[in-house]
Amino acid sequence: MQVVTKNWSKINPLDINSYIRTGGYDSLRKTIREMTPEKIIEEIKKSGLRGRGGAGFPTGEKWELAVKPARNATHSVAGGTLAKERFFICNLDESEPGVYKDRTIAEKNPHQIIEGLLISAYAIGAKKTFIYINGHYQKQAEILEIALSQAREKEFVGKGIMGSAIDIKIEIFEGAGAYVCGEETALINTIEGKRGEPRLKPPYPPVAGLFGKPTVVNNAETLANVPYIIKRGAGAYSQIGSSVSPGTKLFVLEGAVKNRGIFEAPMGTTIQELVFNSTYGGGMASGKELWFVQIGGASGRLAPPAKLDQPLLYGKSDYPLGCGSILVVDKTANLKDLLFAWADFFHRESCGKCVPCREGTFRLWEIAKRLRNNDLREKDKENVKDILWTLSNTSFCPLGNFAATAWGDAVRMFPDKIFG
Ligand SMILES: Cc1cc2nc3c(=O)[nH]c(=O)nc-3n(C[C@H](O)[C@H](O)[C@H](O)COP(=O)(O)O)c2cc1C
Ligand code: SF4
Repeated sequence: MQVVTKNWSKINPLDINSYIRTGGYDSLRKTIREMTPEKIIEEIKKSGLRGRGGAGFPTGEKWELAVKPARNATHSVAGGTLAKERFFICNLDESEPGVYKDRTIAEKNPHQIIEGLLISAYAIGAKKTFIYINGHYQKQAEILEIALSQAREKEFVGKGIMGSAIDIKIEIFEGAGAYVCGEETALINTIEGKRGEPRLKPPYPPVAGLFGKPTVVNNAETLANVPYIIKRGAGAYSQIGSSVSPGTKLFVLEGAVKNRGIFEAPMGTTIQELVFNSTYGGGMASGKELWFVQIGGASGRLAPPAKLDQPLLYGKSDYPLGCGSILVVDKTANLKDLLFAWADFFHRESCGKCVPCREGTFRLWEIAKRLRNNDLREKDKENVKDILWTLSNTSFCPLGNFAATAWGDAVRMFPDKIFG
């Protein structure tokens, strides 16, 4: 089942007409001619679409928060609680190692993101929107710029979209490429010209976001689902995948499997199916034996072979899906190297705003270096436990919790290999 990748092979990303020939921008036309913003939000709510950026928050509910002033009344918002100005941001930061799905959508079918963003902005009444892209993705930023200029020429973006009274601007904003800037409030800070570090929540961005105005931040893959939902209807979309999180997901499968890369699969596909089914991973690479699978990128949990029957979805799950990156690790892998790589990444990416993460990721990185050199000190085992607890329980934002996830599982699952 293909929703996001369906027309990738048919489309020339540098030619808007090839997107239009596959029915592209029909959904935007439909919303503008036939649907009120309220009806669009209702449709997205009914579809059950959840955000693909990591947390799986219901998309329609998030949009509703930005347009319901009564719910905003508990927070003082610049411009008043009835602020009419709103912003929409497409999150294409994608700075987690091993994930490249969002930038691939931008590369293969940029108009799918632009059309999804326009429909979404219209639904919440945002006249100004941003595509926030990691500044290292120059090729994808250039493709998006070309796509945008062609969409402006066709009057799909800008003033009087498709002859209507609706105005929506789109600006591409290049971030500096820090992992924490994918976190929505840190991202908003950087658009405002401030340091890339998270803000205290609540208030959440749909209530008080960019310049204090209601702002919705959605992942690029989330937005790429929107044209399909409008075209086929919420009923059809909600039949795909799992009832708790409908639709498909782009999985980035890496490691010791036969087929590596991006696979679109229905939500609720099990780890076993993704790794071993010939449509996807096709099983272990020749001569490799499965040890464990990391679900959800560098910040994800480690699933042992006994847990391969777990479904991959948003909602209640022992193995949160995160952004959808799946790393298959075989028995020849060096656990000490892996532990070092995780600690090195989080230590480097900690923004330094709070002590538990700034100090915790640094201490863990020091221990990881000693572990790799077979030079552990007597108190290191005890200190690792303290650091992991502190990161998990006292960090200001989820990055600190993420730094403890894979380490915590490794310490529980393979203590002898680490401290033995
Ligand atoms: C450290 C950190 C990094 C994040 N990076 C990204 C990212 O690169 N892309 C993304 O869409 N969401 C990222 N998120 C999640 C965003 O804060 C936000 O929840 C998401 O963009 C909302 O979109 P969605 O509802 O469509 O998933 C990150 C969160 C954290 C804590
Ligand atoms: S947990 Fe880490 S990334 Fe998050 S605010 Fe604290 S120092 Fe910054």
